[in-house]
Amino acid sequence: MKVLITYFSNTGNTEKIAKSFKDALSDKDVELKPISEVEPSSLINFDLVFLGSGIYASRVNKALVELVNAAPELPQNFVFFSTHASLVGYQDGFKLVKRKLGHTSNIIAEFDCCGDNIGIPEETRNSMLDKLPPEKRKEAEKHQQWLKGRPNEEDLKKAKEFARSVVEKR
Ligand SMILES: Cc1cc2nc3c(=O)[nH]c(=O)nc-3n(C[C@H](O)[C@H](O)[C@H](O)COP(=O)(O)O)c2cc1C
Repeated sequence: MKVLITYFSNTGNTEKIAKSFKDALSDKDVELKPISEVEPSSLINFDLVFLGSGIYASRVNKALVELVNAAPELPQNFVFFSTHASLVGYQDGFKLVKRKLGHTSNIIAEFDCCGDNIGIPEETRNSMLDKLPPEKRKEAEKHQQWLKGRPNEEDLKKAKEFARSVVEKR
């Protein structure tokens, strides 16, 4: 089985997850590439594509839709993965990609985890905190602390377990 793991990652969080998937599948025929390096016509050569992105303004990066749009033929099976700063994942983040895939391909599994918001400068984050009422601010500060360094070792372990479980089922 040929597997492609490809991703858009602005600050490296989603890339860490992608690399963990690759580590977990070291005994398989796996290619790992940032999405900018993927030739759309090559997608069809893979039995399974792990497609991932950070979440930006509630959506995955447009490079994902562009890749799927540009592919003359689509592979049968996709796995979506994402990282986000919020506590909960964004089911709608992949909406446009899902729409494009339609009934041509199956989305066989999805993985998401938290990723530290290092793409927004600390001063900007602090000025956002300043605008909150005291109770909300306390909560947001606590969340920021909790998010530091994510994805962490525990997240990467979960990512590896996820990748193995997906591939073992095929
Ligand atoms: C411009 C920008 C917008 C973001 N928007 C969201 C958002 O809507 N929801 C969210 O949970 N996280 C948001 N984040 C946080 C990122 O999703 C999170 O840090 C993610 O792990 C980044 O992945 P990356 O390092 O692979 O780029 C945003 C970050 C940036 C820089």
